[in-house]
Amino acid sequence: MSDEATLRTAADASDFRIGAAIDPDALRSDPSYLRTAKSEFNAITPENALKMGPLRPSRDTYDFGDADAVVDFGVEHDMYVRGHTLVWHNQKPDWFQAWDYTGDQLRTFLRDHVHTVAGRYRSKIDAWDVVNEAVADDGSMRDTVWYDALGEEYLADAFRWANEVTDADLYYNDYGADGINEKSDAVYDMVEGLLDDGVPIDGVGLQMHALGDHPDPGSVAENVRRFRDLGLDVQITEMDVAFHVDDVSENPDEDQAEFYGDVVAACRDAGCDTVVTWGVHDASTWLRSFRDFGERFTGDPLLFDDRYDEKPAYDGVKGALED
Ligand code: G3I
Repeated sequence: MSDEATLRTAADASDFRIGAAIDPDALRSDPSYLRTAKSEFNAITPENALKMGPLRPSRDTYDFGDADAVVDFGVEHDMYVRGHTLVWHNQKPDWFQAWDYTGDQLRTFLRDHVHTVAGRYRSKIDAWDVVNEAVADDGSMRDTVWYDALGEEYLADAFRWANEVTDADLYYNDYGADGINEKSDAVYDMVEGLLDDGVPIDGVGLQMHALGDHPDPGSVAENVRRFRDLGLDVQITEMDVAFHVDDVSENPDEDQAEFYGDVVAACRDAGCDTVVTWGVHDASTWLRSFRDFGERFTGDPLLFDDRYDEKPAYDGVKGALED
């Protein structure tokens, strides 16, 4: 393939999706951001705009302006659009206080939220992260406001409510479950149980925030395969790659490029056809405002640098797509 090929043309030629998390303000204000997003990626995820907090400025109002801007950008440029996320314990609205609701009232609140948001984008969003990060790092169920009030049934409810209002593929999404480990074992058992109960779940999202301990690509492939064997699709949904401050090689750019390429290759081999990177370029990474990131980790985690120049990681992904 010619060197002029973009990441998007390489992905399209390989029936693969390579995506980025998108910020609506950057789309509006930075022509280079918009140009890079539409020419280099064939999939997008609103980074924050579809979360409960940003969507709901008050108990009785929704503000879909930012979410519409990102979703409509994706639809306009014929991109695969991931919705993120209907049910999560973070980024709830500031006005939301669980103690204002009985259990039944909270269940009704959550059902109405899922119906309203997923229903609005019925014809525009291709896949939803219906529930995000319900499993704790030790593999137990995470102690969230939803779990506390509604029990584990909230997961099945959320998937059923979403399925009532959209034809999108419905995903469970989590971090730290990329390879075979205690947490991914727990996620596997949980989604197997949902499937056994006839819950409409189509896929699992592996976030792949590889900030220091990078999962072995072979283990990632094995993990993808076991979810595929359940009949589920698997997508890498939030990939970025950084390093422990005390464990940086002499060639971090090359190491980063190799890891990105190895993950894409492992995904393609195991039957995962989507990798979304968590940002368009290094200047837009969440990590630069992530608490104490600089004390523990280092590195610019994405495929394009602050000036939108292609990095070795870009070539690593493109090479894995063209193999
Ligand atoms: O929009 C407000 C702005 O009005 C305010 O002035 C500013 C300062 O307080 O905050 C802005 O909100 C920030 C928001 O990002 C939008 O930039 C929040 O403080 C900040 O906490 C929020 O961070 C997001 C984080 O999720 C929240 O947990 C990151 O951008 C986002 O990349 C990150 O993404 C998550 C995924 O959704 C789930 N998986 C993990 C991933 C990384 O944490």
